[in-house]
Amino acid sequence: MSDCIELMHTAPLRHLAVIMDGNGRWAKQRGLPRIAGHRQGVEAVTVIVDACLLQGIDVLSLYAFSSENWGRPQDEVDALMELLLQFLALQQNKMLAKGISLRVIGDTSRMSPSLQTALKEAEAKTAGGKRMTLVLALSYGGRDEILRAVKKASRQVCQGELDPDKLDCCTFSGFLDTADIPDPDLLIRTSGEMRISNFLLWQLAYAELYFTDVLWPDFGADDLQHALDDYRQRKRRFGLTDEQLHEP
Ligand code: FPP
Repeated sequence: MSDCIELMHTAPLRHLAVIMDGNGRWAKQRGLPRIAGHRQGVEAVTVIVDACLLQGIDVLSLYAFSSENWGRPQDEVDALMELLLQFLALQQNKMLAKGISLRVIGDTSRMSPSLQTALKEAEAKTAGGKRMTLVLALSYGGRDEILRAVKKASRQVCQGELDPDKLDCCTFSGFLDTADIPDPDLLIRTSGEMRISNFLLWQLAYAELYFTDVLWPDFGADDLQHALDDYRQRKRRFGLTDEQLHEP
């Protein structure tokens, strides 16, 4: 097991990851276009960011657009990109004031140049934020991230900068987009679906999983509290025995 993993029975929740699912169904239930669900989903994002700050969570990772989402109808993709631009414009000063640093993971090279610039500017502007890191997974796929990390590590091996025998889980983590970010302690997925959908495949190895039927646009601070209460009941063993974890 990687020595990157901190073995703690009832570990404090440092990193919360969320698959924000159900925007389309939320809209359909109301006879609205799918984009109305995404718009309401952005409202839920702002509520949950504030709730996580109050909870003292260090890192909040949100799966906002997967590498597979590029295959959605073009008008939905365009609308999501527009929402993201609006989110950055409206939220970056607020993030700065609240001590939130923005970090983007994923292959953003597929996004428009203006969006790439806006993302880089928002990351740079908020880089000093110490209270919480907000990780936005955009054009993100876990397999793609691992492949890109393998390529980076291989290049270093070829250039004689990395001894392949020294490559362990901890050093490999440093090649991922999430380098320097602790692995998620808890993953929440909304809307009743029970799968990982290519999100943080490497990093979720020992995460606790929590699934709720609540659709993302309806997910609020009380729902977050339920998930955190549930997490606090879990006994994390990281593949070891109870006795080992209680050893001084
Ligand atoms: C999944 O719901 C959600 C998405 C693919 C996009 C998530 C995006 C947002 C919450 C808004 C943008 C976020 C930011 C940070 C600006 P779905 O569309 O698959 O819902 P369905 O399964 O009910 O169809």
